[in-house]
Amino acid sequence: MENLHNPKVFKINRLSAHSAHKYQGLNIEWKKCLNGVWDFSYCDSPNWTKIQVPGHMELQGYGDPQYVNTMYPWDGRENLEPGEVPKEFNPFGIYKKEIEVPKDWKNRPIYISFQGVESCLELYCNGEFVGYSEDSFTPSEFDLTQYLKDGKNEITAKVYKWCSGSWLEDQDFWRFAGIFRDVYLYSVPDVHVRDMFITSDLSSGFKKANLKNILKIQSYEETLVDVEMELLDKGEVVLKVEEKNVKVDKDIKLELNKKLENPKLWSAEKPNLYDVRVIIKNSETGKVIEECSQKFGFRKFEISDKIMKINGERIVFKGVNRHEFNCYRGRAVTEEDMIWDIKFLKANNFNSVRTSHYPNQTRWYELCDEYGLYVIDEVNLETHGTWQILGLPCTEKVIPNNNPEWLENIIDRAKSMFERDKNYPSVVIWSCGNESFGGENLFKMSEFLRSLDKTRVIHYEGVFWDRRYDKTSDMESRMYAKVYEIEKYLQETPEKPFLLCEYSHAMGNSNGGLHKYTELEKKYPMYQGGFIWDYIDQSLMKKDPFGNDYLAFGGDFGDRPTDYNFCVNGIVYGDRRPSPKVQEIKQLFSDYKINVDEKTFTIDNQSLFTNCNEYNTKVKLLKNGVKIFEEILECSVKPLSEKEFKLNLPKVKENGEYTIEVSLHLKEERFYAPKDHEICFGQKVYKVEKKLKEKLEGKPILINGGFNIGIQTKNMELIFSKAYGGLISLKFCGKQFVDGVVMPNFWRASTDNDRGNKMPFRYAQWKLASMYAKMTNVEAIEKENSVEIKAIYELPTNPITTCELIYEGFANGKLKVSMSYDGAENLPDMPLFGMSYKIPKEYSEIKWYGMGPDENYIDRVHGAKLGIFETDVNRNMSEYVIPQECGNRIGTRWAEITDKTGFGLRISSEDSFEFSALPYTVSEIESAYHHYELPKSHCTALNINKVQMGVGGDDSWGALIHDEYLVPSNKKYEFNYILECNI
Ligand code: GAL
Ligand code: MG
Repeated sequence: MENLHNPKVFKINRLSAHSAHKYQGLNIEWKKCLNGVWDFSYCDSPNWTKIQVPGHMELQGYGDPQYVNTMYPWDGRENLEPGEVPKEFNPFGIYKKEIEVPKDWKNRPIYISFQGVESCLELYCNGEFVGYSEDSFTPSEFDLTQYLKDGKNEITAKVYKWCSGSWLEDQDFWRFAGIFRDVYLYSVPDVHVRDMFITSDLSSGFKKANLKNILKIQSYEETLVDVEMELLDKGEVVLKVEEKNVKVDKDIKLELNKKLENPKLWSAEKPNLYDVRVIIKNSETGKVIEECSQKFGFRKFEISDKIMKINGERIVFKGVNRHEFNCYRGRAVTEEDMIWDIKFLKANNFNSVRTSHYPNQTRWYELCDEYGLYVIDEVNLETHGTWQILGLPCTEKVIPNNNPEWLENIIDRAKSMFERDKNYPSVVIWSCGNESFGGENLFKMSEFLRSLDKTRVIHYEGVFWDRRYDKTSDMESRMYAKVYEIEKYLQETPEKPFLLCEYSHAMGNSNGGLHKYTELEKKYPMYQGGFIWDYIDQSLMKKDPFGNDYLAFGGDFGDRPTDYNFCVNGIVYGDRRPSPKVQEIKQLFSDYKINVDEKTFTIDNQSLFTNCNEYNTKVKLLKNGVKIFEEILECSVKPLSEKEFKLNLPKVKENGEYTIEVSLHLKEERFYAPKDHEICFGQKVYKVEKKLKEKLEGKPILINGGFNIGIQTKNMELIFSKAYGGLISLKFCGKQFVDGVVMPNFWRASTDNDRGNKMPFRYAQWKLASMYAKMTNVEAIEKENSVEIKAIYELPTNPITTCELIYEGFANGKLKVSMSYDGAENLPDMPLFGMSYKIPKEYSEIKWYGMGPDENYIDRVHGAKLGIFETDVNRNMSEYVIPQECGNRIGTRWAEITDKTGFGLRISSEDSFEFSALPYTVSEIESAYHHYELPKSHCTALNINKVQMGVGGDDSWGALIHDEYLVPSNKKYEFNYILECNI
């Protein structure tokens, strides 16, 4: 079809976009939902089957989903010029539905609304062509009146996978097709408010407002009406305007204005909403024809003094990028998904969301208004593959650029978004799209939005790549900028406020170093926060080769070309279970920073509108991780201020490690969390120590054989093999804890970030060192109160280096294990420094006193607490789609790995250590590309480390771990820990 190929044809007979307000009147149901089962025929197939609407074809058995990032999905199969549509492979689906028009709509206009169809739709009614529309993410509406007859009618929608508009929809996501959002018929009362645009001017310190509503009213017959507007606060009318005897004929525009004193302001913290009601009455009869309603919030969003402000205060976005996604339904998300998401975001201290990279379902904005999230609403536009190839600029064919052919098309996309979403107070920023380079067309789009709307500002990151039309964006927006780059920008007297539209790339085990970004918040007023990439793993539920469900990624559907797991970057897994990365973000995104000292604590209230006395403050004292005192206080700290409080704790004298913990909690249940939900915390750890020298009496037996060295003492018995070069047996209370030979370890199963920055290539020597260390010397040594086996290992690095292990047994049944390394030049950094044990599988329960509860690393530990926690090896295996390093805990004082009865191994150290216990060894994890490729667990892999390098997270395609979170190999390392039986 010609329309498909022509960028200038993106709509035929499509109705103009309008606001999504609600209306009712004349006791008629005005909307008829057409969701459900439709008849369906895929491509030229003569067979008719069934399909669910809303939904994607590919997730219902028609074609396969394909995941690609920047490249266009046909790359390498067909060479196309921008605007051209694949000739060889462009499947389509024909949707058919028989409809009956409700009787009380007789003689009225009848419209159909498709809220989202990918990539385009040709609509027929009773065999006649009605219209055509592109733009997958905004509504396509048509007037069906002239095509309908009494009784049964047939609606046919032909939906193509690709059209010229697909060139504007090169977002990094699954490529799906179909009617994936609601479809409904609607009609309207005799006089109908087709559109309203409500705004308010706030002046005199936000005490005075002028409420303005520009209405577009339609009528088929000339009618005289009275138009009333009411503003309601929780059902009570607080303002009323009336315009009498308005002559309505076809379309008219009417502006209503009214002043108001002391409106309650809307913000994400205090999402005060009013109802705006517009009532249309027949002037002669007084009869109500239509009643419309729209929620409205008074708020002022502006850039003043080069800073973005909400109601006069500097805003810091603690945001996330959110794709609409559900692992079963793709982008056809449900209301339940949306409610889950908004609760999750509120409960974890997010204050904002970017609708990356297209307008979302309208319900999402209503929820953001109601529950309080600032929104960057983004035009459905991305042309990434036209200007960046294999990461390098290649702009000869870039669109839309200055190309007149695409101008109207992209402006229309902006208009469709604007008209639909303009009344949501939560939308504070319009975004011109994502990654579409620069140029005049985008500048015109920004000017178009500016001309329509004075209550929001404009975002566009693409000007970073092309500065010709820098004014397109009102803020300097970057993605994945490094902290030093941001500081550089902010220190050079910049013109625009700074925003990270994407940062801290949450792919796999990531989000390390996030604190370095949040630390900028206090330092630079023009730093205005950012949006983590991204919210949910785009992984799809599928059957593995064994018939079990698993979360699949690009390539798993035979889709090629693909970008594999690059679509899996969420802080929640594809099935919406939170990943352990959230622990860190929640704490760093809290508006309240609690600093605890031995005698006082301080709350720095960085919120804009909330006093801390709205929460409970809990003070706890823990001794060696066990709570010995708790009290609940109410601390009044005004927004944007800091206050110190005296601690009133019981005196402690006994030896031990003490933790003072102060945390904020919800006083009452809120829609997103139960009463007592913790918002954030602070801890102070200190020690009371009077050194008591442990009296050591006796010493173990040392048996130095020809092949083995044995140590035997109370409850403990070990064998070190001279032949196999390591510890081969370690028994406590007669139970064996060692399988194989215990060896030094320097390697971790590479993470997505590691692969992105080529860590395995750069550090490969340490993998060899972990696999093929050679014992070169072993000695058995008798000491005064202990016996010791000291072994030297040569490591196959280049140059060869060595490390030393010492096993020292004591009469009390404890085994002290020490590992040391002198440091060597010319070697790459180590992933980690430690030892790994294979212990019998029945030791699967984990309890520890250290940082937790969730997985943590040296660069991702702000959200972890010191405490005593429990888990088990299976739960400890995080579900990053490609198995990788996970489950680590730093700052560990002791850990117990036990069987189900509670018997097992205890590891402890005077200095803290890092550890993980997992159902698979490092090399098993590293060899698997999917979880189903992991072997059947046959042991517990216990990794005990002095230190492991951080996980990083600035991006996943090259960013290195920050220097301070590396494990340089030219330094000396020494650490030791005690192994013993836990009972
Ligand atoms: C950005 C892009 C996102 C996503 C991300 C990487 O460049 O805007 O859509 O591709 O990188 O995950
Ligand atoms: Mg992209």
